[in-house]
Formats: sequence, C-alpha cells, structure tokens
Amino acid sequence: VNKYIYLNNAATSYPKPQSVISAVNAYLNSIPFHSQRTGFDLQQRDIINDCRTKLAKLINAENQNRIIFTSGATESLNLAIKGLSLDEGHVVTTSMEHNSVLRPLKHLEKDGYIELSIVESDEKGYVSATAIEKHFKKNTKAIVVNHCSNVTGAVLDLESISRITKKNNIIFMVDASQSMGVLDIDVQKCGIDILVFTGHKSLYGTPGIGGLYIDEDIELKPLKTGGTGIKSELLYQPKEIPLYFEAGTPNMPGIAALNAGLDFIFNTGKATIKNKKEEIITEIYSGLTSIEEVQLQSIFNSEFIPQIISFNIKGISPNEAGYILENSFGIIIRAGLHCAPLIHKNIGTFPEGSIRVSPSFFTTIEDVHSLINSVQQIRKMEVKN
Ligand SMILES: Cc1ncc(COP(=O)(O)O)c(C=O)c1O
Repeated sequence: VNKYIYLNNAATSYPKPQSVISAVNAYLNSIPFHSQRTGFDLQQRDIINDCRTKLAKLINAENQNRIIFTSGATESLNLAIKGLSLDEGHVVTTSMEHNSVLRPLKHLEKDGYIELSIVESDEKGYVSATAIEKHFKKNTKAIVVNHCSNVTGAVLDLESISRITKKNNIIFMVDASQSMGVLDIDVQKCGIDILVFTGHKSLYGTPGIGGLYIDEDIELKPLKTGGTGIKSELLYQPKEIPLYFEAGTPNMPGIAALNAGLDFIFNTGKATIKNKKEEIITEIYSGLTSIEEVQLQSIFNSEFIPQIISFNIKGISPNEAGYILENSFGIIIRAGLHCAPLIHKNIGTFPEGSIRVSPSFFTTIEDVHSLINSVQQIRKMEVKN
C-alpha cells in the first residue's frame, strides 16, 4: 500500500496503467533476437511501427514516418531548434516556455546564430496570437510556443497562432509536453511544422522516451549520427526518415511502454480522461478558493478548466509548504519555478515560484479532500506562528 498521495503528474505520471508495466515486463522477458532494428526481430519492429502509427493517429499526422523517437522533449527541442537552418534569422518564443526551449534558444542567441524575442504572457500565463504577431519582423524564421503551461496550465490557441505564422511564412514549432494525450492536437488543422512531445507524462510511458513530428516541408539536420541498422557500408548518415534522426540502439522498453500507454488512451478515450481530470481540478479549485490565505495563479472559468493548478499560501514560501505537505501529510506536489523561470515574473511569483498541483486520471476525490484539509492545516499553523 502506497502511503503517499501523488499530485505531481506534470513532472511525470504515476501510477502507470498496469498494461504499461506488463508491456515493459514482456519486452524485457523476450529474447532480443537481433540487436539491430532491421534484422529478424519482427516483434521489436512491430512495437516500433505500432507505436509510430498510434502517435500519428493521435495528432492526425498524414505520414507516420515523420514521427521521430528521442529520449524526451528536451532532446526533441534541441534537435529541432539546433537542426533548423536559421541563418542568423529572428526567432520568437514566449515567457511561458520551459528551460528546454529557453536554454537552447538563449545559447544560439549568445553564440550569434539567431536574434531572439520573448513575448511576455499575461498575469495568468496566457499568450495570444495578437501578442505574438506584434514581435514578427521581416527576418522572423520560426516561432516556438508551449501548448500548455507547466506552471499555470494556460493553453494557447494553436489555430489562431498558425494563421499568423502561415500568413508570414514562419516555421511553427509547438511544445506539447503537457498537452499530448489529454488535449486535442491536429497537426494538419493547426498547421504545425514541428510538434514536440515527451512520453512519461500524459502518455503514460517511462522516463527517457519522447519524440517529435516533423512536417514534410521542414528540413532539419540530425542532432546525432551513428548506427541505423541499414546501409552500414555508408560512412554518412543514411537520409531515410525516420532513421536519419534515430542513430543508436532504440529505447525499446520505453517504446513498448509508450505503445501500451497509447493503447490505454485510445481504449479509455481521450474525452473520458479529460473529463475525469477536469472533475478533479474543479474540486481542487473550489476547495482552494474557499481558503482565504490561498492565492491562485491559474485561469479557471466556465469556458476553461486547466490541467494544472498553481497557487501560494500567504505568509509561507512554496518550498516550505511543499516540504510540509510531503513530510507531514504524505502529499507529493512540486514547489518552486518548475523549470520555467520567466512566467513567474508575469504571474507575480518570482523568484520563489509556486505550489503546483497536477492530478492524473487516477486521482480520486478523497485525494483532493486530503490535499484541501492539509492546506487548511498548514494555514492554521501559519496563523498560530
Ligand atoms: C512544457 C515542458 N516542456 C518540456 C519538458 C521537458 O520534458 P523532458 O524532461 O521529458 O525532456 C517538460 C517537462 O518537464 C515540460 O513541462
């Protein structure tokens, strides 16, 4: 029996569906007949193809070979940001980005490869297409936006952003780390050129697996070169996609887990998962708003229920509150800047950050009641002090 209540699913999801654990187990218990991916090991190839097919279906990608496996969103973002020919052009991003977007871009800027503009979000962490468009210049080559903030849960309107990128002939890159598996994403409808995802959050996979979708019209240089299991006589990377980007032995247990995670999503239904999470978030939101000392940073209204709630308790630092929640009440949340430093300046929580609660499909109403009771008790402790 687990004595903890886990509310840190925006970092990594827990628990994983039993079918995911079984898939990893089954993979590790079977003989890897051939360590190369194009040998005789049909089972291994089937898992990779199956997983690519399901990912393409989830985001409505026309060609599943345009889905590339990586070790996670961080590698995907590095591949995409460093692999584009930006030719000292201008790139636009937002203050709601994770460091896995900000740091590669800031390094390219520092080294003189790009000019960078960062669009500030509003006080709830939202960035509109109009705010982004104001930063476009004649030499703007690409934009990188976070679909769903890992701090406030704010969700950007990809369709309206895509209209302005198409109008201005700008490459449209989206970080879907927080949204894929829960929110609808249609790369064709939203005109997305590059979509980045990670496997261990709402896709229920294991840490160390992720990927990206690259539109047919986009040219990228690979981040790494090496063995592909095909054309081994060549001393240069074979151009066949997806292998062009996938040098090295693939993370098979990770792909097997992701494959089973995707089955879980399709079998349960995306709408069912989203509705359940919204029900839980609504309960958390109403519990927290009833506590006077709680300051909430997430948008929540009749038209929008976020996946994540960020808040602070007056008079206590988020880190201290996080420590007490974990050590006195057995509730795991995340406190601090959540690897997204700039948004905190917009929402008024810099430099200490916020308390972030991120439930999953498996969170129960009882878990929520424990959280609310614990926050009430922490507040009382503070009043006494
Ligand atoms: C919005 C966002 N982008 C990127 C990442 C990086 O994902 P990973 O650590 O799996 O590479 C995360 C995960 O924390 C995230 O929340």
